[in-house]
Amino acid sequence: MNGQWVRLELAVTAFDATRFEEYVARCSAAGIRLTTLAELGDTPEHRRALYELNKECSADIPERGEFYSFEEYAERRFAAAGYDPRGVVIALDGDAWIGMAATSVHDGFVFNEMTGVRAPYRGRGISIAMKTVGLRFARECGATRVRTFHHPANANAIAMNRRMGFVDEGVLNR
Ligand SMILES: CC(C)(COP(=O)(O)OP(=O)(O)OC[C@H]1O[C@@H](n2cnc3c(N)ncnc32)[C@H](O)[C@@H]1OP(=O)(O)O)[C@@H](O)C(=O)NCCC(=O)NCCS
Repeated sequence: MNGQWVRLELAVTAFDATRFEEYVARCSAAGIRLTTLAELGDTPEHRRALYELNKECSADIPERGEFYSFEEYAERRFAAAGYDPRGVVIALDGDAWIGMAATSVHDGFVFNEMTGVRAPYRGRGISIAMKTVGLRFARECGATRVRTFHHPANANAIAMNRRMGFVDEGVLNR
């Protein structure tokens, strides 16, 4: 990749949940159900659905290149030490999987593995709603921070995280 990754983080205690729960309520009012892979069932069928959704959304990440095979994806995501299906938030429109916000759990922090919303559903606050639900999980884990990094050209993703209060890595320690 050309240029530096944009590395962002959010202090869990600084996250203003009351401000963003409104996005969760808006999804519910629009008939978009927010759930987790744990609640839906961490089954082979659901893992495959998550893979397909991730693959579709990742096609819009700048310079992402060819996506993993299902086997590679399973190895990286489901077999990883930090994997927890309670930290994989899914947005459903009826039976259709339309959004995901997947995290992994690490020592003291939660890492945002992938946030994606299918193109026709973008711009409605669904990613913020999913990540707000994900923040509840980060709290339950006792994580103090949520971390993420993005390609510098991924303006939507960077704007979405900054909107939630994410700041450049290192700023919280200053
Ligand atoms: C990034 C992505 C997940 C955003 O999903 P979304 O549901 O459309 O985002 P939201 O509607 O929740 O927008 C959240 C905030 O992000 C910002 N934002 C999102 N899209 C934007 C755009 N096109 N232009 C400017 N700001 C934008 C806004 O601040 C917005 O908040 P507001 O509507 O209250 O002003 C979506 O564009 C996507 O799936 N992209 C492809 C996959 C990807 O790049 N994922 C990130 C890498 S892990």
